[in-house]
Amino acid sequence: MLLALISIVYVSLRNGISPMPASARVRHVVANEVNRISGSGTIVDAGSGFGTLAVHLAQHCPAWKLVGIENSPIPLWISKLYRRVVVAVRGNSTTHVTFQKENLYTYSYSGVDVVICYLYPGAMKLLVSKVCSRLSPGTRIISICFALPGWEPSRIVTCGDLYRTKVYVYDI
Ligand SMILES: C[S@@+](CC[C@H](N)C(=O)[O-])C[C@H]1O[C@@H](n2cnc3c(N)ncnc32)[C@H](O)[C@@H]1O
Repeated sequence: MLLALISIVYVSLRNGISPMPASARVRHVVANEVNRISGSGTIVDAGSGFGTLAVHLAQHCPAWKLVGIENSPIPLWISKLYRRVVVAVRGNSTTHVTFQKENLYTYSYSGVDVVICYLYPGAMKLLVSKVCSRLSPGTRIISICFALPGWEPSRIVTCGDLYRTKVYVYDI
């Protein structure tokens, strides 16, 4: 238990962010934004933490395939376990979500239609410099809380939570 905690704290310090999950209201808004997109495809939760957002999207956006990428081993392990438990309890609506150990800045994003993130301002700068240029035209980015510096969002939704969290939507 102590080692798990040390691992989470150590990787959080290295990443600049902890695996804090998006709140239920924010998850609801993100699912609405996904369901506004016609068609289907692949969504990547870039920095999927404990997997609660990706599993929620798998349940509420059934047309989409979800991939959670995370570089912190304990949250990643918990997200895989969480998926198994939800599948066992609620049936197979969450089978189209997988979790992988990846660095979100070096992941290929090949064939990805939507990138979702809940990071921090420094990471948004890195996304612009390291990731955005590799995304195919038409890819949508949905960012919780933080805007992409220098980019104009196509939509901003304010969640009805205590913090009035903003969700930014960008079209590449
Ligand atoms: C605030 S949490 C968001 C969790 C989840 N997406 C949600 O909204 O509920 C951010 C996550 O990004 C992960 N992360 C940060 N930098 C990363 C990197 N370079 N590669 C992979 N994951 C990273 C952190 O470990 C953390 O779990």
